Amino acid sequence: MRKPFVAGNWKMHGSKTSIESLVKGLNEQASQVQNVDMAVCPPAVYIDFVKANLTADNIVVGAQNIAEEPVQGAFTGETSVEMIKDLGCDYVILGHSERRAIYGETDAQIAQKTKVALAAGVTPILCVGETLEERESGVMEKVISTQLDAVIKVVGINAFEQIVIAYEPVWAIGTGKTASPAQAQEVHAFIRDKLARLNRAVAEEVIIQYGGSVKPDNAAELFAQADIDGGLIGGASLNAEDFLAICKAAS
Ligand code: G3P
Repeated sequence: MRKPFVAGNWKMHGSKTSIESLVKGLNEQASQVQNVDMAVCPPAVYIDFVKANLTADNIVVGAQNIAEEPVQGAFTGETSVEMIKDLGCDYVILGHSERRAIYGETDAQIAQKTKVALAAGVTPILCVGETLEERESGVMEKVISTQLDAVIKVVGINAFEQIVIAYEPVWAIGTGKTASPAQAQEVHAFIRDKLARLNRAVAEEVIIQYGGSVKPDNAAELFAQADIDGGLIGGASLNAEDFLAICKAAS
């Protein structure tokens, strides 16, 4: 049985003031959510502040990115996996479509970051997903396969015991256009089947989150699908009540 997992990706949002109030809301209401793993991923500069203020013991903290280099060094502007680990992060989001599209991260770089995170004992939340153009031109499965294969090639299929996958159709991110439960389930099943061909037991256990305009009013229907094990939440995770309502819908 897979335990649902919902994570909030705060992206580049927040200030000390807004985060203090968001974390206060989480602290006050998180105990209402049971049987769901929960995480929040603030901007790196606020991780320590969140850790210091978060008293809800059922929410852990993750980061949004790490450097490819495993150790510290002359890499201006980068944050190493050891640094986020030092701050107490259990997870790191890798391969988000914004990192791929805006910062040009390649499949190979994302695979390397996955390897570095795993070696440090930090669980990667590996994002995959297609653009609208790719979906409409019929190459969706090929795109997602390629994204997964790049990681499998570097870390091996068994490493997926320690990896969370997030399926995020690019056209649904921040657009208010959610994939329908059937559309999302189809891709989640495709991902699980693909992994099952390499290792059935690993595929059965791997958590596959859905991300893309998940809101309190559409979460339950998405999470009810057989292969959807929770969500990676953007905009709605910036409001404690909405985030926890989504988490509750996964229970
Ligand atoms: O990583 C979460 C994400 O990209 C979805 O964002 O704002 O559509 O929930 P949003």
